[in-house]
Amino acid sequence: GAINATDLGKLGVRSLDPGYMNTAVCKSEVCFIDGDEGILRYRGYNIEELAEKSTFLEVSYLLINGELPSKKQNVEWSDRVMKHTYLHENLNQLLKQFRYDAHPMGMVISTLAALSTFYPYANPSLSGENLYKSEQARNKQIFRIIGKLPTIAACAYRNRIGKPYNNPQSSLGYTENFLYMLDKLSENDYKPNPVLARALDKLFIIHADHELNCSTAAMRHLGSTKVDPYTAMAGAAGALYGPLHGGACEAVLHMLEDIGSLENVPNFIQQVKNKSKKLMGFGHRVYKSYDPRAKIARKIADEVFAAVGKEPMIEIAIELERIALSDPYFIERKLYPNVDFYTGLVYRSMGFPTDMFPVLFCIPRAAGWLAHWVELLDDPATHIYRPRQVYLGYDERQYVELQNRT
Ligand code: ACO
Repeated sequence: GAINATDLGKLGVRSLDPGYMNTAVCKSEVCFIDGDEGILRYRGYNIEELAEKSTFLEVSYLLINGELPSKKQNVEWSDRVMKHTYLHENLNQLLKQFRYDAHPMGMVISTLAALSTFYPYANPSLSGENLYKSEQARNKQIFRIIGKLPTIAACAYRNRIGKPYNNPQSSLGYTENFLYMLDKLSENDYKPNPVLARALDKLFIIHADHELNCSTAAMRHLGSTKVDPYTAMAGAAGALYGPLHGGACEAVLHMLEDIGSLENVPNFIQQVKNKSKKLMGFGHRVYKSYDPRAKIARKIADEVFAAVGKEPMIEIAIELERIALSDPYFIERKLYPNVDFYTGLVYRSMGFPTDMFPVLFCIPRAAGWLAHWVELLDDPATHIYRPRQVYLGYDERQYVELQNRT
């Protein structure tokens, strides 16, 4: 019969693949990327078309359920999600315990983990396999997570600026409600700008999934243990927080601030080529051409700038891109702008502080994490994720008692 991976392992055959450059850990139908051609599709639909024509909630339905919702399904789905936007009062209290200057992403990660204690029957060790695997029980967790994340994110933001939390308005659209919770100053006096709400919704769409990126791989990794989805999401969000992943957007802004003016761009590019600096927002493990999301983000930037005024650092970003894309160093290494290159500038012009950037990535990516979690649970081939290593340490050594050591 065919030799499987376990048999090969017993024969001592092992592939060393640092960073999982070429290891496929599952079969998936959620997301397709052609890194050479710059193509990204969710469930077969091109990202450009989804960003143009869909809403984020429709796209989250598509990712998780495999098909675009019918009109009726769309209404039900939005309704269910929006009904789950409220937080348990104790969760509100928990959020209030963070330091005034707590990083909002730290608050989001901790609160996601805390959700597992509020909904313990999502944990198979308490509920038994059936409840965990039943579609109804699963959907309940999905509605909760997609519904509550913007509320948690808004509370984290309000904590940072020392303002009271705002209750969600389930009659508003998903992204509109998020903007409302962030900025509402007093009853009835804040209406989210529809141009900004649509722009943010589009940014949510282009961030919703990206096959086995580091955080989604983390979601699957934790999910493979059958831990509850809240704990798995906290792990995935932890991966997203890293500067090489979801933190890159924040790093782009810091880089643009450091460069400071157009005259300094050539000198900065030289430092990148000397490897003393990294051009943040450039390069991607999979895209070896222009990231299609970066093109969409560039267009969204223009729409937002037209509504709220131009973010001056955009000139530095455009000049960086112009010089880098004509320089052999970047051409040879196939380094192009990735999704983070322009999104930070859009967030900045919308008034978000930089430490909210990874949070703005986390909210939509939750849809992708959940789509992969559902696929993982339904895949009979799922095993607990447990890679092997190539051991290069000592052979057996003689233990020396502490009193005999120098
Ligand atoms: N600036 C300068 N040089 C770069 C950059 C960059 N941003 N990215 C890669 N390179 C260079 C490397 O130094 C290397 O050069 P060498 O062959 O002379 O050593 C070559 O390009 C290949 O790079 P790797 O590090 O092997 O590429 P890898 O696939 O491991 O890394 C990554 C991908 C982490 C995204 C990397 O490009 C990077 O650090 N970019 C900046 C951070 C960033 O923007 N991250 C966001 C990614 S997208 C997202 O998370 C949504």
